[in-house]
Amino acid sequence: MNDVETTLEVLDKELPTFAEFGLRKEIMQSIDQAGFKNPSPIQTMVIPVIMEGRDVVGQAQTGTGKTAAFGLPALNKMHLKGGIEILIITPTRELANQVSDEIFKYGKHLGARTVTIYGGSSYNRQLDLIDRGAQVIIATPGRLLDMLSRDMLKGFAPSTVILDEADEMLDMGFLDDINEIFSYLPTERQTLLFSATMPQPIKNLAERILVNPFFASITKAETTNTDIAQQYYVIEESERDDAIIRLMDAEDAKKSVVFCRTKKEVDRLSNVLSAAGYSAKGLHGDMEQRQRESVIKGAKSDAFDVLIATDVAARGLHIDGITHVFNYHIPFDSESYVHRIGRTGRAGKKGVAITLVTPLEFKELQRIKSKVGTTMEHAYIPSKMDVKNSQVNRLLAEIEKQHIYDEAHKVLDALKEEFDQEQIAYKLISVLMERNTVAGPNQIGISAERMEKILHNLQTRGNDSGGNRRGGGGGYRGNNNRGGSTGGGYRGNNDRNASGSGERSSSGGGYRGNNDRNASGGGERSSAGGDRGDRSRSFSGQNRSDSRPRS
Ligand SMILES: Nc1ncnc2c1ncn2[C@@H]1O[C@H](COP(=O)(O)OP(=O)(O)OP(=O)(O)O)[C@@H](O)[C@H]1O
Ligand SMILES: [Mg+2]
Repeated sequence: MNDVETTLEVLDKELPTFAEFGLRKEIMQSIDQAGFKNPSPIQTMVIPVIMEGRDVVGQAQTGTGKTAAFGLPALNKMHLKGGIEILIITPTRELANQVSDEIFKYGKHLGARTVTIYGGSSYNRQLDLIDRGAQVIIATPGRLLDMLSRDMLKGFAPSTVILDEADEMLDMGFLDDINEIFSYLPTERQTLLFSATMPQPIKNLAERILVNPFFASITKAETTNTDIAQQYYVIEESERDDAIIRLMDAEDAKKSVVFCRTKKEVDRLSNVLSAAGYSAKGLHGDMEQRQRESVIKGAKSDAFDVLIATDVAARGLHIDGITHVFNYHIPFDSESYVHRIGRTGRAGKKGVAITLVTPLEFKELQRIKSKVGTTMEHAYIPSKMDVKNSQVNRLLAEIEKQHIYDEAHKVLDALKEEFDQEQIAYKLISVLMERNTVAGPNQIGISAERMEKILHNLQTRGNDSGGNRRGGGGGYRGNNNRGGSTGGGYRGNNDRNASGSGERSSSGGGYRGNNDRNASGGGERSSAGGDRGDRSRSFSGQNRSDSRPRS
């Protein structure tokens, strides 16, 4: 592998500034307006290299500013003399819109214009924006390929090509489309791949499709963002709804994302939570495009408190103020876990990630834990009484802090005509308490004895794949006892990484083919490798003669 730099090396230097990069003044103006004070570690590491024109593979934890890390230098080198100069490919429509907004924000003083290209919305509108001079395309693979193969994009020759969520884009599901898209791209181009996860097979593939790439990694020991406190709760299958509701109440979650495995589950849980009085909305790929956009807009503007989603919302989405991520069902693989929980704890803020597992899923959890190299604490679900008590404590604190309005005297005077002061106080407190009813049975989740048995069985069977048991047997810690979250993307405080046992997420050797989604693991992988090898020729432009005609 080529140049690999670590956070520690970056940290040794003085706190960097954006001014050092020598970006154009119009871009500096946008950085200023965005309120960014210092570049994050990944930005510090890759912006100068991208400005030199080199291909880059960038891996850094969720919410640490990868979009600006590739966006700023890509915009900086634009000629703005007409034609598409930058192509950014993202796995979902929601992410395409978000990246487009962000690129527009950074490039507006330069006069850079963006267009998003994805299914579910009008071809004409997208083509019209290109005709009117957009220079940056942000696309999902399907619609882009459709347009390219129908020769709808005249003079398409972007000099910078970026795969955001690169590992997802180069995973089996998207690989064929991406291969074909690359056959339409000019050989002379700068290619940038970014993601919070970069399994080894994807790095290998990257080495073949990029030219002399610079590998930048800010995730030596922990793939997950260390600003996220991670907990798991062991429950029975039938307890999922009660557990989510109880934990939302106990945690006083302000704004959450709940991840489900299926679209049906999203729809059902949205109904359950709405019926339980939560302001909740669902998001999944079967919804109308307009509906999807309105849900994301609502989530970003605090129009509701709980977003219930499939993995369509797992990658890249930045929704400000998410305090909690809940895994209603454990994700299919460790990459999905990293990205899902990364919807909280962004841009230096703290967050909490909670995963529900049944005893049957416990081993899956252990596998994710060891692959991600992360600390997940076991906790017991608070009883109804626990939650009521903590609600009383919160109420006390709120009453203490409450400012008294002038109009309050009028209400008090009116009440005094009918009740004595003590009665009034009791009644008002009861009004407040009624807003905080606690639903569900008193106890949810498996008992401590059963948990001990599960752990004991796992240990005596001795075939656990090295899962981290440190957090396995912990007792109930109450709701506020979260330590251990030290790092922060922007402060670059990743000093836990000193051991250098990096790249654990890929150390299992198996990228996706190695887990339950794919029973024939090894064989499947090796044939995929061959497949990728063949295709890599077209990536490097050597297959130009048999690629599609370009205008
Ligand atoms: N230098 C900076 N200082 C402060 N905030 C920043 C800086 N760079 C980016 N941000 C903000 O941080 C937030 C997260 O950035 P971004 O979405 O690019 O993260 P990411 O690394 O791509 O995460 P993910 O892996 O989830 O895609 C955004 O709101 C962005 O505007
Ligand atoms: Mg991102």
